[in-house]
Amino acid sequence: MPSHQKSGKDQAADAQLISSKEMAPLPENFGPVFFQNQFLAKIELPTKEKYADLTGKCAIVTGSNTGLGFESARQLLSLGLSHLVMGVRSLERGNAAATKLRAANPSAKIEVWQLDMETYESIKAFVCKCQDNLSLIDIVILNAGLAPVTFATIPATDHETTVQVNHMSTVLLSVLLLPVLKSKSKGQNPPRLTLVNSMMSHLCKFPNKSKRPMLPSFDDTAVTPWNAEERYGVSKLLCQLFIVRLAENVKPEDIIINMVDPGLTKGTELSRHAKGITAVAAKIFFSVAGRPVDRGAATYVDAALGHGKESHGCFLMNCKIAPYVIIHEVPVSWKILLMTSCDPQTRSLVLHRRQGINGSDLDRDASRTQFRWR
Ligand SMILES: NC(=O)c1ccc[n+]([C@@H]2O[C@H](COP(=O)([O-])OP(=O)(O)OC[C@H]3O[C@@H](n4cnc5c(N)ncnc54)[C@H](OP(=O)(O)O)[C@@H]3O)[C@@H](O)[C@H]2O)c1
Repeated sequence: MPSHQKSGKDQAADAQLISSKEMAPLPENFGPVFFQNQFLAKIELPTKEKYADLTGKCAIVTGSNTGLGFESARQLLSLGLSHLVMGVRSLERGNAAATKLRAANPSAKIEVWQLDMETYESIKAFVCKCQDNLSLIDIVILNAGLAPVTFATIPATDHETTVQVNHMSTVLLSVLLLPVLKSKSKGQNPPRLTLVNSMMSHLCKFPNKSKRPMLPSFDDTAVTPWNAEERYGVSKLLCQLFIVRLAENVKPEDIIINMVDPGLTKGTELSRHAKGITAVAAKIFFSVAGRPVDRGAATYVDAALGHGKESHGCFLMNCKIAPYVIIHEVPVSWKILLMTSCDPQTRSLVLHRRQGINGSDLDRDASRTQFRWR
C-alpha cells in the first residue's frame, strides 16, 4: 500500500515509532502472516557497513554449539566481536563448535562455559561466573531452547522439559543476569538482552491457562494431554508474557530487553527428537518453508544491534518491531505472574532480584500492559 494511503498508526509502525504493545494483534488466521514471513520477507545478512564494529565488545550466546545460536555467534564474530562466551550444556560439543567459530575472527577470545538449562544450580553457577569473570557484557542472546516430541519431566525439578527450559529456566537466567549486566555497563550504550521467542506462541490454544496452580498442570498428562507443538508454543508464550512484564520494570537506559522470532528456520537441530514419519514430515516442511540458518540468525543480530531503546520490551519479527503474540484481556501483575508461571523453587530469587533492579512496589504495576487471551 502506498504510504499516503496508510493510517497514521500504520505509518508509525513502518517507521518503527510504535511498540509491540501499541500494535493491533496479529490476525487469527495466521496463514497469510506465515506466507509473508517465510516466502516474501527479505532478511539481510549483517555487514560491517550496516552495524557498528564490535571490536572490544563481549557477547554471551546460549546454546551456541549448533543451529541459530552457532550461526549468530559466527555473525557477531564476523562483525569484529572481541570476546564470545558460549553457554552450552556439553563442553565437548561447545569446544568443537568454538574451534569452527575461531575461523570467523581468529583474534577473538572465545570461551566455552557450562550451562545446563535443566538445572537451576547450573544457571546460578553460570551467572556467578559472568559476575566474577567478565569485566563488561555488551550483548546477551538467550537462544538455548528445545522442542521435544515426547512428554518427559526433568528429575531435578519434576517439571515438563519444554516449559522448564524454554520458559522457567530462560526467565530465571534473564532475571539473574539483569543486575550483572547493569553493574558491568560502562559506556553510553546500554547492554542488550535479546531472548529468542517464536511465532508458534501465536498458534497454541493453552487449554490449561485457567488451572491454578498452573505450572504443575503441565507436568501431568492426565491434567493437560501432551501435544508437542502446542507445548512448544505455550512455553514460548509464557516466556513472552513474563519478559514483557519484566521489561516494564527495567529502564531501557539500563538494559535494552527485546525478543526475536527467527522465523521457521531450516538446517538447525530443533526437530532432532522427531522420529519416523514425523521426522520425514518435519524435514520436508522445514526444507520447503524454512529460511536458511544464516537468515534466521541475522534476525538475532538485528535484534541485538539494529534497534535501540524503542525496541525495549518488544517482539521482533522479520527484523521489525511486531505485535505481541500474547492475546488476552486481563491485566497481569507481577504477583500473579510470579505465582502462576515461576517455579516455587526460584520464586523468591526472582522476586528478590527483580526488586533489586528498581525497588518498586510489586502491585503497582498491575495496570500496565493489558494482555489479551484469544
Ligand atoms: N529453527 C526454527 O525454526 C526456530 C523457529 C523459532 C524459534 N526457534 C528458537 O531458536 C532457538 C534455537 O533453535 P535452533 O533451531 O537453532 O535449534 P537447535 O539447533 O536444536 O539448537 C538449540 C540449542 O539449544 C541448546 N539447548 C537445548 N536444551 C538445552 C539445555 N537444557 N541447556 C543448555 N542448552 C540447551 C542446544 O544444545 P545441545 O546441542 O547440547 O542440545 C542447542 O545448542 C530455540 O530457542 C528455538 O526455540 C527456532
